[in-house]
This record gives sequence, structure tokens and C-alpha cells, in this order.
Amino acid sequence: MTLQFSLVSAAPETVDTPCVVVGVYENGLLTSAAARVDSAADGAIKRQVESGDINGKAGSSTLLFAPQGVQAKRVLVIGLGGQKGFDAARFQKVNLEASRALTRLPIDGAVSFLAEADVPGHDAAWRVRTAALAADYAAYRYTATFKPREKSGQPELRSLGFVADAHAQVGLDQAVAMAEGVRFARELANLPPNICNPAYIAEQAAKFAEAHVANQVSCKVLDHEEMQRLGFGSLLAVGRGSANKPKLVVLEYKGGAADEKPYALVGKGITFDTGGISLKPGPGMEEMKFDMGGAAGVLGAFVSAVKLGLKINLVCVVPAVENMPDGDSYRPSDVLTSLSGLTIEVLNTDAEGRLILCDALTYTAQTFQPKVLIDAATLTGACVIALGKHASGLMSKHDDLAEELLRAGELSLDRAWRLPLWDDYQVQLDSGFADVANIGGKNAGAITAGCFLSRFTEGQRWAHLDIAGTAWDEGRKGLATGRPVSLLAQWLIDRAG
Ligand code: BES
Ligand code: MN
Ligand code: ZN
Repeated sequence: MTLQFSLVSAAPETVDTPCVVVGVYENGLLTSAAARVDSAADGAIKRQVESGDINGKAGSSTLLFAPQGVQAKRVLVIGLGGQKGFDAARFQKVNLEASRALTRLPIDGAVSFLAEADVPGHDAAWRVRTAALAADYAAYRYTATFKPREKSGQPELRSLGFVADAHAQVGLDQAVAMAEGVRFARELANLPPNICNPAYIAEQAAKFAEAHVANQVSCKVLDHEEMQRLGFGSLLAVGRGSANKPKLVVLEYKGGAADEKPYALVGKGITFDTGGISLKPGPGMEEMKFDMGGAAGVLGAFVSAVKLGLKINLVCVVPAVENMPDGDSYRPSDVLTSLSGLTIEVLNTDAEGRLILCDALTYTAQTFQPKVLIDAATLTGACVIALGKHASGLMSKHDDLAEELLRAGELSLDRAWRLPLWDDYQVQLDSGFADVANIGGKNAGAITAGCFLSRFTEGQRWAHLDIAGTAWDEGRKGLATGRPVSLLAQWLIDRAG
């Protein structure tokens, strides 16, 4: 269920709502909204600060039920941490925790004063957008594959008001469109691979296109026979072991001038990665259902761009393939001929992402001559080792493009960190039997994967995002995060001007 957001102009002590949300800094420093509630309620907050029940630690929450002198039925007091170090990331965190607390209460609505808190370098529109995105993120539930549960009859959070200046409406509108893209990506990535296979991804993309004006959004799906005719030798080799045949999904959005070249997003859509003949170990293999996180991410960014009505042209290309071991699987030492004509020696069938992306990138460049070409992929375990689960890996030979993407990541709090793509690394991909090998040895695995892709994007203004660490949360119950939808959506918003 999606949340309804609104801008509200009200006083914290008189606003009529099931719950009003106010912030308290560490060391008992009350925000102005908290101070107003406190004095209307005859010191109810300060007493709990003095007793230590409210400590202001970032993300902590305390609920006051039906305090005297306050109109709202409840007051949720959220810790903001120290006022000095209060920054964008902390602002996001406290809003996320506030929303988590709200979704656990039997209430259908709330009004938050947290978006009033000053965040250095950001305006009210950014604060409202970030707060709304955090709330929608917290409110998301994965339910698709559970037995339908009976309604509990308890109210559930449906609407959230933010107290902010009317100028912040832009931020709220952006949040609604971005949240829809993030949800689209999360839901697709969370679905199990027996449902979310290549054909399913193609259907979802087609369904989205059908729901929109035909001359603005269109979808085309190439099946494996068509790709065979066109020469997708690398992509098709990866799919050969699976009964679920590969699809190439192509979505187009025409929001800009008819003659303007599009921006292009390409996403790795391995719906399940067993490793193929170079089989992965059993423990943890189930996480490889998220190996279509890049596909989900670029589709989500596409959804956001369409919902925002951005005045740009955009294409989104998703190679959707399952990597399975089988009597007909491709094997280590096979030499493949890619769509570009370059031949590839397969040294490990588990380095399959680059093998589907290279053909998808070639196809996108040849078909659309895009202004900019960006791919997103859960490409390497090495990237997770290098950057952990907080930053996506960014690689590009174009410093200005890399800067744009890094800045978009900072602004949307969907951050990336750049790794070098120097030619020094290219020798690691030398092969004695083909133009390029599909693995580059144990050193710098994220970079050599980027180097592999760079061989297929020459002449393109291209960047690569390795989201292996950021696309989902770890653990058995870890959900898809929807990254890098926000980063890409922000970058597209910036391009649209
Ligand atoms: N999908 C994996 C990368 C991956 C691993 C993402 C773990 C997230 C968590 C990719 O297809 C893969 O298997 N990469 C190999 C490459 C190696 C064989 C050169 C890897 O990272 O081990
Ligand atoms: Mn793999
Ligand atoms: Zn993979």
C-alpha cells in the first residue's frame, strides 16, 4: 500500500491527527515544534528528558499517549542526535526511523514536523522529498508470495503530512514519482526467480508501457530467435542452459524533442545466477535471485522519469537471462562471438553479467546512438569487498559524467564511489584464444569487469555502476533496496534541467 503525502500548515500542539511527530536533539535540546508541544503539555517532554527516558540519540523514538493540552492523540518524539553534526544522512535516518515507528502503530495518519529541521546545504523541498522517500521506503511490505492474510481490522498508516512551506511542493511531487520507481524496482527484485524469470520481466515492462500514452512510452521485446538472427552470440551463450529463454527488453520514452538523441540505461537482468558450469557454492546461492537488481534499478528509474514527465528522451534496455548448468550450457574455454564482432574466451561461466551486458550495450549504442549510456549491474563480489554495502561502485572514463553521477548520488543519498578504469588494468583481460577473456584474475575484480565492458562501449559517453553491494540488504530476510533508482532518477532530473 502506498502512502499519501501532503504538505500541511499547522501548529504542533493544535494539529488534529492520530500522531504528531517532533524531534529532540541530544542533550535534551528541543526543536521548536517539540518545545511548543512540551509547553502545551505542561512539560511532558522535558520531564522524560530529565528522567533519561528521552535521550535524543539519532533514530530513537518515544511515544506519548494522549498528553494533556495537546490536540493530537499521540506525540512521537524522535531523537535527532547531536545538533552540530546534523547532516543529510542523519536527516534521512531519523525520518526513516520515525516512519518505521509510525507503521507499527494502529493509526491511519500522522503529521510530521521533522522536515522543519535545518539541514546544511539543503532547502525545504529537498527535506520534504527526502522525508517522504524515507517514509515510503519504511512503509513498503513484501507480500506477493505469502498466503493472503485476513485483514486485522487495525488501522494502517495511509497518509503522512509534512509541515513545510508551500514552496516544498516540488519536492513532494518528486518524491511521489521517485517512490513509485523505487517500489517498482524493489518488488521486481524481491520476487522469486520461479516467478520473476526473463519472460516475466518482459511482461512487466510491456504492462507498464501499455498503461501509458502510446506515443510517449513504448516497449519492444526481442526473443532469442530474433537475437540469434542479429548475432547476440555472447548473451545467448549465457542463456543456453536454461529452459527460461532470454529476452531483450527495450523501453522507450519520448518526453523530449522528436529529433533529440536519448539517454540510455542498461541493466543486468540475470533472473538467477547459479554460476552455470562454474557452479557457485550452495550457501548463499539464494541471494542470486537479486542478480537482476540492475534491471530492476533501470526499470525503476524509467518509471520515475515517466511519472515525473521529464522533458527528455530515454531508453531502457534490459537483457533478461537465467544462468543455469545443463547439458547444453556454455562452458569454460568456449569462445563466443559477441554482437560487436569481438570474440570472448569464457574462462568462468560465473562471470556471466558482463557477457549479457556487452551485447546489450552494443545493441543500445548501435540502435539509439544515445547521448549518454549508463549501465547498472550486480556485477562483482569484488565490488562488495571493496566498498561494502553502502556505496555503489562507479566507473567511467568521462570525468564530467562521473562527477554528475556522484553528485546525483549525494543529493539523493544513494551514493556511489568512483574506481579507476585506467588502461593499466586492461592486460589482465588478455587471452591467447580470443580478443578478450571474460575474467581478469584475482586483483581488482570490480575494475577488470568494468574494463571488460569498456571494450564494448568505445566512442560512447558511458558509465558503469556496480551495485552488487547496494541492491539488497544482507541476511535471510534481506529485501531489495531499490538502489540505484534514486541516483539515476536524480541524474535524469538534473539533465532535464
Ligand atoms: N552476480 C555475481 C556477482 C555478485 C556476487 C553479486 C555476490 C553480489 C554478491 C556475478 O555474476 C559473479 O558471479 N561474479 C563473479 C566474477 C568472477 C567469476 C570473476 C564474482 O564476483 O565472484
Ligand atoms: Mn555470476
Ligand atoms: Zn551474476
